[in-house]
Amino acid sequence: MAKEKSIKSIEDLPGIGPTTAEKLKASGFDSLDSIAVAVPSDLADATGMSLEAAKKAVEAAKQATTLEFSSASEVYERRKVLGRISTGAASLDEILGGGVEANGITEVYGKFASGKTQLGFQLCVNVQLPVGKGGLDGGVLFIDTEGTFRPERIEAIAKAAELDTAKALDNISVVRAVSSDQQILAIERADKTIKEKNIKLVVVDSLMSLFRSEYPGRGALGERQQKLNAHIHKLQSLADSHGLAVYITNQVMDNPAILFGDPTTPVGGNIVAHAATTRLYMRKSKEEKRIVRLVDSPSMPEAEAVIKITPNGIRD
Ligand code: GTP
Ligand code: MG
Repeated sequence: MAKEKSIKSIEDLPGIGPTTAEKLKASGFDSLDSIAVAVPSDLADATGMSLEAAKKAVEAAKQATTLEFSSASEVYERRKVLGRISTGAASLDEILGGGVEANGITEVYGKFASGKTQLGFQLCVNVQLPVGKGGLDGGVLFIDTEGTFRPERIEAIAKAAELDTAKALDNISVVRAVSSDQQILAIERADKTIKEKNIKLVVVDSLMSLFRSEYPGRGALGERQQKLNAHIHKLQSLADSHGLAVYITNQVMDNPAILFGDPTTPVGGNIVAHAATTRLYMRKSKEEKRIVRLVDSPSMPEAEAVIKITPNGIRD
């Protein structure tokens, strides 16, 4: 027991020297908690250590970590200070309870040209604003799966927000993923960049397009959903451990089971539906107007806001 108590950092784990510790950290296993919940073979793969040694390290990390229970009022106090990113439109911020929430996943689904990507660009700029001024004073990690990231739009929106446009662009790290494996890896390896660049917003635009094109047909669905599940789980854990907001866009399909009303349904099934903390449905209205419906939220009622996509970004 005395020996276990002395474990305070990764370097204190049995069989882990400075070199292995560095390798672990570089692979995202940068805390005792992350090692306690790790699969031993993943540790072995990341460091080249033996599976036996990895199992011992995981076991020791489990013994060394403690789980703290909080009262509901403590949780309530913490939630009050949760960061939020303004969407640029007061009406949309209001139905969201103050903007897009940190520590969670916000999903926006809708047909093409509904404005999902444009809202993402606005968040890329607004997250850089100071806390209390609609931002989280942080940077962005943008996973672009459709080749639709447009720095010139960021520049225009940043200029309208009176930010230094060169700095605003520098604060956004863009990964162009052309396969679902690249998309998954970009998120698996994100911890280091997130810390170094104080990233407070992760955008995945769009979540499902590569998965959909790579796994057509029913036969591959099980494998697809399994990979997707792990991917979303990692996004959630980034949101939790770094206090950042995750913004994902999603495609839609027509659901023939819905006979009355709007049959537009987001793709990705239950895995995406359950993982998204907040879900928004965006659709076109007249000209630059868009209707945004809050479909699912842990704390706010269903509601709609009308916004505009202007040259300067998202506005009321
Ligand atoms: P998909 O990715 O195709 O599913 O669509 P999306 O929902 O991401 O749509 P996106 O956010 O790309 O919105 C496209 C719409 O935004 C266009 O039809 C335009 O109406 C508007 N838009 C795009 N760029 C500009 C711009 O520079 N100025 C203005 N005013 N509107 C723009
Ligand atoms: Mg788009």
